[in-house]
Amino acid sequence: MRDKIKILAGAAIFLAVALFPLWYVRTTGKASIVPEPRLVNAGKECVNAKEYMREYHMTMLNEWRDEVVREGRRSPIVIAGVEYQKSLSDACMKCHANKSDFCDVCHNYLGVSPTCWDCHNSPKEPKHEIR
Ligand code: HEC
Ligand code: HEC
Ligand code: HEC
Repeated sequence: MRDKIKILAGAAIFLAVALFPLWYVRTTGKASIVPEPRLVNAGKECVNAKEYMREYHMTMLNEWRDEVVREGRRSPIVIAGVEYQKSLSDACMKCHANKSDFCDVCHNYLGVSPTCWDCHNSPKEPKHEIR
């Protein structure tokens, strides 16, 4: 009898732990894992406000591509006094050189895999400490 109680208690604890992701999301309304893209030496400013970038960076990249490739509009953009080309490699990846713990963190979480890197160079990643 005593063993039975122990076994049941053990099973209950096991289930509570194993099902943590489910009840945590249900009771708090939050996902238990959210992507945390890390900025490394990216400076202070992006091409646009953070909230805007989060939502529209893909659209912005398409616009840049069309302006450069189709319309030949190559005029540089200026961020914090520095000129950048309207370019994936020569703008975005100059600041966000840590692709694997910035871009990839969000994309892996979402299951998106942009094919851009088939043709465009991804940067050689700078060495930095992993916390
Ligand atoms: C099949 C190869 C290929 C793929 C895939 C590709 N591109 Fe390009 N892209 C090019 C070529 C070629 C140019 C022209 C480079 C130039 O004229 O400077 C270009 C130019 C661009 C430019 C403007 C200039 C520059 O050098 O960055 C942007 C921005 C761009 N592509 C973004 C993207 C994005 C974002 C993706 C993924 C969604 C992507 N491209 C996928 C081949 C490709
Ligand atoms: C001059 C450096 C610089 C350039 C160029 C740049 N970024 Fe950023 N980016 C930053 C910084 C700094 C932040 C954080 C801004 C903040 O916290 O307000 C940021 C934020 C972002 C975010 C939001 C991150 C989050 O945590 O929500 C995205 C997405 C992003 N950048 C994508 C891009 C893309 C795509 C490009 C090219 C079209 C680009 N960035 C070009 C420096 C840059
Ligand atoms: C804060 C999270 C986040 C960060 C950081 C981020 N992305 Fe994205 N990215 C997204 C989301 C969300 C989408 C859209 C997914 C969808 O609509 O299916 C996306 C889509 C894209 C697409 C379009 C993919 C497609 O197949 O249409 C490109 C290109 C892209 N991101 C480039 C970048 C680059 C380059 C960086 C790093 C400089 C970056 N992203 C950083 C969240 C992020």
